[in-house]
Amino acid sequence: MINISVNADSFQEWRRVARHLLMAEMAPHNVHWNCSDKSNELLSNANTFLPLDEITNAKPPLLISRTLVSKLEAAACYRCEDRWAFLYKVLWRWQKGEKVVISPADPDGARLYKMVKTVQREIHKMNAFVRFREYIPPDPANNAPRFIAWFEPSHDVLPQVAEHFSRRMGQVTWMIATPQGSACWDGTKLHLSDAPILQGLPEIDDGSESLWLVYYRSIFNPARLNTNAMELNMPVRYWKNLPEGKLIPGLISDATAGAQRVGQVNEVSVRNGATLNIEAQRAQPKRVPLTLLQQCRNCDLWRHATQVVPGTGPSTARIMLIGEQPGDQEDIEGKPFVGPAGQLLDQALVQAGLDRNTVYITNAVKHFKWEPRGKHRLHKTPDQQEINACSHWLEEEIAQQQPVVMVALGATALRALLHSTSAKLTPMLGKQLEYGRSHLIPTYHPSYVLRLVNKEAKKEAFLQLVKHLKMVKVLAD
Ligand code: URA
Repeated sequence: MINISVNADSFQEWRRVARHLLMAEMAPHNVHWNCSDKSNELLSNANTFLPLDEITNAKPPLLISRTLVSKLEAAACYRCEDRWAFLYKVLWRWQKGEKVVISPADPDGARLYKMVKTVQREIHKMNAFVRFREYIPPDPANNAPRFIAWFEPSHDVLPQVAEHFSRRMGQVTWMIATPQGSACWDGTKLHLSDAPILQGLPEIDDGSESLWLVYYRSIFNPARLNTNAMELNMPVRYWKNLPEGKLIPGLISDATAGAQRVGQVNEVSVRNGATLNIEAQRAQPKRVPLTLLQQCRNCDLWRHATQVVPGTGPSTARIMLIGEQPGDQEDIEGKPFVGPAGQLLDQALVQAGLDRNTVYITNAVKHFKWEPRGKHRLHKTPDQQEINACSHWLEEEIAQQQPVVMVALGATALRALLHSTSAKLTPMLGKQLEYGRSHLIPTYHPSYVLRLVNKEAKKEAFLQLVKHLKMVKVLAD
């Protein structure tokens, strides 16, 4: 018996060595496949070294069916300790006339079948779940790929997936990085590297991700949720690298907490057979009807906004804070003051001794007005027509809330409340005005404070904002 130690790192390497071993009549139990990183050191164990030419003895070339080769090639991507030894065993048996070795009825055939299926499924999942993000390198001279993606495949399927994307993405450059290596497309050629990338990629938000999340949330239909089917199609192990992965647990728990019951799913599931005698109208999941505010078309701002952003807060709130209009983040989340200006406002409220959960927060204009600037949506101040078109909603909120104190955060809110284009904020800052049966205190808008570049001026404006909010608290108390 001769034991041979063989290094094999890729299917091509394995195939070359396996042919020689087969021609030398080397039985599988006499071959020890030593998989190492040194890809070119085939048959390199010094003690047992046998030159390939010597063991082949110039036999006629082997004939192996294409079907077998393609099965072996697919199975070679399956990560397991003994993959090369197992593939050689299959090849050996096939060569000895045991064609049953590729049938799922044979134990080895069954294992081969399972490996091929698993690899095919992994390729399919990776094609579906790779998420590219546009990457702007800090140094523009840097020849970095335009799109990059991070993925953690369970099997060695990167080359197949890279082929798929190189056909799909034209001349755009990209890279897919994995813990086992990477694939780069330079616009014309694919470069594969097996240098492991251990750390993942930096967080990149190219702006499209937020929109994707809004879209994903809006197409998620709680009435049709089937968690088992969902996890089968999108196994949990992929979630951590998918942007929408972080939404899924919340969407599932909302659905199971009640949203699902409003759908038609119960009615459908009790019926036998494939024909459902349900009117088309009733087969639709029930959706909460749109409010009048959500249907508002009084001006054109709704056209480019993701959604309307209504005011929020308890109906018992004695204080009402009025901002200008939702910003980029508010537009996506549908809630006022949740972006950077909202964070500054939160700090000011805390310092003034006010609890955000006890105040009502809204905006003079309920849709986000913006203009594109590169990949960003840049805030644009609403004009008086747009403020007027929205004033109806603000008046309705005031009538409902009947706040003891209202706070105009910035000039737009003040102009909206006073119905005056000429109202100036600076002379009115911190003044106690009367507005119907409420007090009105104008103060700085948090975004104004954020935008100040001079540190001293910024600190001073923030302190003023806190001071005015303290006055508001005293009045409300
Ligand atoms: N700026 C505002 O005026 N309102 C918001 O909701 C956010 C930023």
